[in-house]
Amino acid sequence: MSADKSNKVVVVGAGLMGTGIAHAFASSGFETVLVDTNANSLEKAYGAIDKILGDGVRLGKVSEEAARAALARLSVNGDLSEAAFGANLLVETVSEQLAVKKAVVTQAAPLMAANAIIASNTSALSVTEIASSVPAPERFIGMHFFNPVHKMKLVELVRGLATSDETVARTRDLCDAIGKTSIIVNESPGLTTSRMSALLGNEAMYMLQEGTASAEDIDTALRMGFNHPMGPLELGDLTGWDTRLSVLRYLHETLGDKFRPCPLIIKMVAAGRLGRKTGHGVYRYEDGNRVPGSGLKASAL
Ligand SMILES: NC(=O)c1ccc[n+]([C@@H]2O[C@H](COP(=O)([O-])OP(=O)(O)OC[C@H]3O[C@@H](n4cnc5c(N)ncnc54)[C@H](O)[C@@H]3O)[C@@H](O)[C@H]2O)c1
Repeated sequence: MSADKSNKVVVVGAGLMGTGIAHAFASSGFETVLVDTNANSLEKAYGAIDKILGDGVRLGKVSEEAARAALARLSVNGDLSEAAFGANLLVETVSEQLAVKKAVVTQAAPLMAANAIIASNTSALSVTEIASSVPAPERFIGMHFFNPVHKMKLVELVRGLATSDETVARTRDLCDAIGKTSIIVNESPGLTTSRMSALLGNEAMYMLQEGTASAEDIDTALRMGFNHPMGPLELGDLTGWDTRLSVLRYLHETLGDKFRPCPLIIKMVAAGRLGRKTGHGVYRYEDGNRVPGSGLKASAL
């Protein structure tokens, strides 16, 4: 079964992720409305989508005509009720707060087309719990995209307690239609990706703490030995060790002891060494570039 491109798609939340998700649908042929309560976010998102399309044209990945058509299919709206009216799919990607997400879907659900699907891009909240605030939780699903959306192919489809098989199948078709590869995950903490990545990053920090190998060599091991595009320590510097620590704490609480955060992460966060964003994490950064040989040494722990 293939997705019907006459479907109207509404993306709520024009932040980092909403920008990429709206681009994905508009450039794949769907009439797309991007909604945000903040007019600045909408303006910035529209500009960012225009730039992604322009870069695509310059790199020869999209024709000028296709880029123009994608932009013509995209509109922005500050009024959720107006945008949601008659929509076939709504993807909420507002700030990661349960109350905010519930308010958005509660307002939109009664206005949408019959048989419409509502999806949440939440990273860690319960899809089942958000779904409990709409009249048809069987047509509610998690659609977890990756940043940057225009480069990352994966979408984790998260099946909540009430999500129907039909909703899963229809959402898979939509993922195919926007050129994404979907996997299906039964709702559980950390889904597949965050859970695996947290474990790997935590173990790499334990190895660093124990002096098993240098930071540079641990990263090289996973890049060269396993073909990972990045080592777990450089990835932690990119994500931010504060974010890593809060994910680990949540997984420790929900899934048990194997996710106990490495004491070195706790120490680094206490010291404000959060990674690239503070100029110092496992490595040091100057003008956005990593300083060679700056990896945290076991002797310094
Ligand atoms: N950043 C990531 O790498 C990433 C990856 C996957 C999933 N997510 C999830 O995606 C969601 C959004 O993350 P983000 O990084 O894009 O956040 P962001 O802070 O960049 O954007 C959130 C946007 O939501 C808007 N917003 C807040 N309340 C609103 C409301 N009631 N109605 C309409 N708009 C509202 C804000 O104005 C803002 O523009 C979160 O649930 C997050 O967990 C993030």
